[in-house]
Amino acid sequence: MQKCQSYISEHKDRFLDELLGLLRIPSVSADPSRSADMQKAAALIRDELEKAGADVSKVCEIEGHPIVYGEKIIDPTLPTVLVYGHYDVQPPDPLDLWDSPPFDPVIKDEKIYARGACDDKGQMYMHIKAFEAMVKTGSLACNVKFMIEGEEEVGSEGLGPFLEQNKEMLAADVVLVSDTSIIANDIPSITCGLRGITYLQVEVTGPNMDLHSGTFGGAVANPINVLCKMIASLTDENNHITIPNFYDDVLELGEQERSAMNKAPFDLDAYKEMLGIADVQGEAGYTTIERASIRPTLDCNGIWGGYTEEGAKTVLPSKAHAKISMRLVPNQDPHKIADLFQKHFEAIAPSSVSVKVDPFHGGQPYLTPTDNKGYKAAHYAMEKGFGKAPLPARAGGSIPIVALFEKTLGLKTILMGFGLNSDQIHSPNEHYGLFNFYKGIETIPYFYEEFARLSAC
Ligand code: BES
Ligand code: MN
Ligand code: MN
Repeated sequence: MQKCQSYISEHKDRFLDELLGLLRIPSVSADPSRSADMQKAAALIRDELEKAGADVSKVCEIEGHPIVYGEKIIDPTLPTVLVYGHYDVQPPDPLDLWDSPPFDPVIKDEKIYARGACDDKGQMYMHIKAFEAMVKTGSLACNVKFMIEGEEEVGSEGLGPFLEQNKEMLAADVVLVSDTSIIANDIPSITCGLRGITYLQVEVTGPNMDLHSGTFGGAVANPINVLCKMIASLTDENNHITIPNFYDDVLELGEQERSAMNKAPFDLDAYKEMLGIADVQGEAGYTTIERASIRPTLDCNGIWGGYTEEGAKTVLPSKAHAKISMRLVPNQDPHKIADLFQKHFEAIAPSSVSVKVDPFHGGQPYLTPTDNKGYKAAHYAMEKGFGKAPLPARAGGSIPIVALFEKTLGLKTILMGFGLNSDQIHSPNEHYGLFNFYKGIETIPYFYEEFARLSAC
């Protein structure tokens, strides 16, 4: 292990340079004009896996953006770790809010600034470099398989069928993912839960054409006004969601679990200051930590309609639209929630408009049990890497594929992420600390070492 750690410190600068090369490729999965860049990023990762020492490395074409697969089987009697990550990134917009171009990475104040620096190119790349270090120093203790996809940020639609069709190729003992955060650089944590999600788009139609807002205004429903009222009514004065039966399947946590999670270090004033808000807001009866992890939510992600260009136009538009997401917690089901939403949204629409609800994508919530070899190995690794025992922590974000690993491959996923909630993922000026990048590369080999040891007893 000492040899492996020395290899990492000797090749530090090259590791960073290589990551910057990957960050220069604008692999935005949501943007159809970027499909050549998706191919370019996939090919680069395949080459990297090969150079690092994988015996198999290939780009698998699926209906959507390709999946990169790699493996090194050193001994079939040893346990196998399946590493999952994603090379696709969120759109960089709004571009004018970036201090430097999103696909022209720069290092500033010990941080890498670029779209995907943290989510998830930087974090995924740590695994390739840790793998390289273990292979080159003869310290790889487990078999390894890599599955790096290109559609995570758009819901991983093509991944379900890929898992179904490649069960044998993907057979493993545990899935290891770095695509989440730690509490702070001096407070390591392991993510033990993810929220699920239901994402949909709604359309409200009033009159069959845009109208003069003076001639018709007041007499005909304005779909934007109606849509705003409808969205506003989806939560009440206590910020409870008003959709009937929405909370039916929510797993309520016991007092003990709640008080344990609220003991995690959290500075509310620093949180407000970071976000530039005078106060937080959320469901009555729950703390900020709880609101952002163990409770379901409903948010409007975008809303449009009517005239939005410069100046004024007096118009009563025919249509209004919104994108609405609901974060779900164990044991809520995204399909069931989509149905409840649709029924309710249609029911509350006044007769002066018609509504259309189109589901986009969804993902199941996930809980990682802490009494298994994978979690124990991650605990050991984080403690070795940071010199401090990690805390378990539930995350508010979603990784839709994680529940499918369990359902299709029967595998538990260990969420050993190294980002920070302040890394501005999905936002302008996304960044990833050099500390976090290197700490991840150093910590990952300890996971393999301990997972092999625990699997042997
Ligand atoms: N890496 C994030 C999820 C995440 C971030 C989990 C921070 C925990 C802490 C992932 O790339 C992501 O953004 N997922 C999407 C999923 C959606 C597009 C279906 C999300 O959570 O919005
Ligand atoms: Mn991610
Ligand atoms: Mn993301």
